[in-house]
Amino acid sequence: MIQRKSAREIELMKEAGKLVASLHRSIAAMIQPGITTKDIDDFVEQTLDQHGAKAAQKGYQGYEYATCASINDEICHGFPRRDKLEVGDIVTMDFVVDLNGGLADSAWTYEVGSVSEEAAALNKVTKEALYKGIEQAVHGNRIGDIGAAIQEYVEPHGYGIVRDFAGHGIGPTIHEEPNIPHYGAPGKGTRLKEGMVITIEPMINTGGWQSKMDSNGWTARTKDGSLSSQYEHTIVVQKGKPIITTDQDQEGLPAL
Ligand code: MF3
Ligand code: CO
Repeated sequence: MIQRKSAREIELMKEAGKLVASLHRSIAAMIQPGITTKDIDDFVEQTLDQHGAKAAQKGYQGYEYATCASINDEICHGFPRRDKLEVGDIVTMDFVVDLNGGLADSAWTYEVGSVSEEAAALNKVTKEALYKGIEQAVHGNRIGDIGAAIQEYVEPHGYGIVRDFAGHGIGPTIHEEPNIPHYGAPGKGTRLKEGMVITIEPMINTGGWQSKMDSNGWTARTKDGSLSSQYEHTIVVQKGKPIITTDQDQEGLPAL
């Protein structure tokens, strides 16, 4: 069953999205060599607490942290840790906020100091791929249109698109139907309808698409050790342009 949200539910999800966006802007300002992903995780958790919001990931299927922190060859679901970030690292911070029952989910990849040309190019293409996907998330299109647009944009760069993880419907829980792969065929799959709220979150590798799971049962990393990047927004499907609830450039972001 794919849910379509009411105007009231969408309002709550937009408020949650503003908090997520604002947190990402703060994280961008915090990122520097020497900081740890545990510091960032603590900051997110404390800020959510101050705003009467909850870290929806904490306790989700036994996950223990407010955020996921995935460094270099880690694709997703890395644990925040006490190791210092170093110049040249890339780190994806991903988290879901629950504010008064409205959910928002966004991941962003940060560069620590100056990074290799290879890493910078990967991040640029991955971010652009996210927006190519969002453009297709319009009432009447199909899920395959999103993946196809991303695939068509990414693969000519020689990068691998992760297949083992996908975007998803969101609200009332973190992961709802439908599944949104970041590759696919145009015109195929379930039709998108006004009021559906989904995430689009391409994970792109400089090498192959294959992933392997760490022994912690959570963290996925590239099988060939190549770098992996990810950008994610939560969006509301409409007849025209989708609403990006987690847009970091929107007006009215709360000061943290
Ligand atoms: N934002 C993450 C995702 O969409 C949430 C992961 S759930 C967690 O995959 F438990 F791993 F945090
Ligand atoms: Co997510």
